[in-house]
Amino acid sequence: MVDFPALPGAKKAIMTRKLFVTTALPYANANFHIGHIMEYTQADVWVRFQRMMGQEVHFVCADDAHGAPIMIAAEKAGKTPQQFVADIASGRKPYLDGFHISFDNWHSTDGAENHELSKDVYRALRRQELIDVKAIEQFFDPEKSMFLPDRFIKGECPKCGAKDQYGDSCEVCGAVYAPTEVKNPYSVLTGATPILKSSEHYFFKLSDPRCIAFLEEWTQSPGRLQPEVFNKIKEWFTKDEEGKGGLGDWDISRDAPYFGIEIPDAPGKYFYVWLDAPIGYLASLKNYFGKIGRDFDAFLADPEVEQVHFIGKDITYFHTLFWPAMLHFSGRKTPDHVFVHGFMTVNNGEKMSKSRGTGLDPMKYLSLGLNAECLRYYIAAKLNGRVEDIDFNPEDFVARINSDLVGKYINIASRAAGFLSKRFGGHLSGDVGVEGRTLLDSLRAHATTIAELYEEREFGKALRETMLLADRVNEYVDQNKPWELAKQEGKDAVLQDVCSVCIEAFRLLTIYLKPVLPALAAKVEAFLRVEPLQFSDAARALGAHQIGTYEHLMQRIDIKVVEALFEAPPAPKVIPGGEDIAPEIKIDDFSKVDLRIAKIVKAEHVEGSEKLLRLTLDAGEGRLRNVFSGIKGAYQPEQLEGKLTVMVANLAPRKMKFGISEGMVLAASHADEKANPGIFVLEPFPGAQPGMRVR
Ligand code: 2FM
Ligand code: ZN
Repeated sequence: MVDFPALPGAKKAIMTRKLFVTTALPYANANFHIGHIMEYTQADVWVRFQRMMGQEVHFVCADDAHGAPIMIAAEKAGKTPQQFVADIASGRKPYLDGFHISFDNWHSTDGAENHELSKDVYRALRRQELIDVKAIEQFFDPEKSMFLPDRFIKGECPKCGAKDQYGDSCEVCGAVYAPTEVKNPYSVLTGATPILKSSEHYFFKLSDPRCIAFLEEWTQSPGRLQPEVFNKIKEWFTKDEEGKGGLGDWDISRDAPYFGIEIPDAPGKYFYVWLDAPIGYLASLKNYFGKIGRDFDAFLADPEVEQVHFIGKDITYFHTLFWPAMLHFSGRKTPDHVFVHGFMTVNNGEKMSKSRGTGLDPMKYLSLGLNAECLRYYIAAKLNGRVEDIDFNPEDFVARINSDLVGKYINIASRAAGFLSKRFGGHLSGDVGVEGRTLLDSLRAHATTIAELYEEREFGKALRETMLLADRVNEYVDQNKPWELAKQEGKDAVLQDVCSVCIEAFRLLTIYLKPVLPALAAKVEAFLRVEPLQFSDAARALGAHQIGTYEHLMQRIDIKVVEALFEAPPAPKVIPGGEDIAPEIKIDDFSKVDLRIAKIVKAEHVEGSEKLLRLTLDAGEGRLRNVFSGIKGAYQPEQLEGKLTVMVANLAPRKMKFGISEGMVLAASHADEKANPGIFVLEPFPGAQPGMRVR
């Protein structure tokens, strides 16, 4: 049983809830941006609240590893896709720890569990005769010789006409469509106009009457979706007067080359990333249950389990149509809640230009020493249960932290703690008198309301309520003036009572803020010498109790530091080793330098020179060149002969002591050659031929 009924106002006892909670799985092609941190904060606050209510919560996430964009990015980076996503995954922890995001597990959609589960789901859909194979014409990039992933085709939205929309969905009107429906398409890879080519594709038959009937019911189930989300989905369901629109079959296959999961019995075909991505939720839970020794199948078969997904509005379609249908027709439980949030903008969505910085970079925020919980507080204060965008505004941010969090809340403890420790050895009074009890009772009476607001994801309202309570406490302090009591004879008991009321009030406010400010709450628990606070602790009183010493809990924010957050990073002038980057040039300046691949036909010592080697170079001109190069200290002539290198071919010939030098060979060295000796002659990748221009 949960402690909720112990709260004042609670009506009935409820069983411990079993919650399986996820956030959307981020693509493993970049570090987190502020949008990720916003979503994780929203889910984390909700999860921490549930844990404080005594619920059983399993909160998991994973990297969304598959898909052509990641394959292409890996190729560009000269890595295997596996190595590429592993490198991205290794950068997740500093963000998650830094912002106190309390996932129980982090996994990857390329993990063994996901390969297995995705194939299971697919086979079950096939048994239900919900898989179709059809040859379709698809866009093919004739320059790159591959079928183009949807995201690598752009053009005009077939529904609303918005320009520069991706090939699979429109960010303006939310429509989802086939890339071939896009108007005036072009390949993002090469700019070429894609051509249509036929190949066999696998489809999930969402147009099947069973699917439509199921989804109509599922989406309407009360409490499952936010009203505005349901209204949006209705548009996607509804056929127009000509019978057009409505749910179409979903193309779930992609042709090799593709980084993904192979479709059983379909050589050369892979699951489209959006098929296996949400299955990654289950895979991460399974992986986690493997670690903690729990039965994954039994858990998911338990009708009491609530499956909850936090997602952004741009991926609603996948989570409210494809995903529940996949789950249902493969005999699995479907999501109980899909909680959709809006986007996070900075400065009212004002586009940040490169020179003015690029928005709110979460890692920069941390590295400037800004307090992660201030950002959590600000995000939470702006969030509600609807699909609304929220905005980060620097001045507003500083004001809210400094006046609310520090000015109203922290202030209560710092005003009372000093007197208690100096004058009363940290002892709280057991009984605090009528006025104190009235105040504390009114604070306790809000526990249920605040809990309900957290439950409904109305975090902004929960925090506003809490700050109104903090205002009452501060009024109480102002009326009772402990600083004056401290100077008056015979007022010790009153002073102790007033300060004890403050500390008890502070404890109650800390309970209400703990889902948002977990690290701060831990410090408060240490200061108060109490067990980790649960929501039900709001119904109890500390009473006569010994507290610890107060240490500063939170600092005001300096607007200058927030401004620094939005300053463009300085151009990388100095490279490690101390050599400045040369002043900027234009492309025309660069193209004046004619760089050519040259073959080192011969290399020999120069009699009388300690530094130079004489090189005979073939730059594909039908003649050989004589070049003196100061690389004797680094290479033996025989190491160089037969190799290719890069030379400056249009450098004016120079008369030297040992003859005329007709060019220059490129080599790298450290600015301070004495401290870091070494000269490294450049060598092109295999395939380059003498005479080729380097540009
Ligand atoms: O939009 C995205 O960032 C996707 N990677 C979200 C996937 S959510 C789930 F389906 F895995
Ligand atoms: Zn559109």
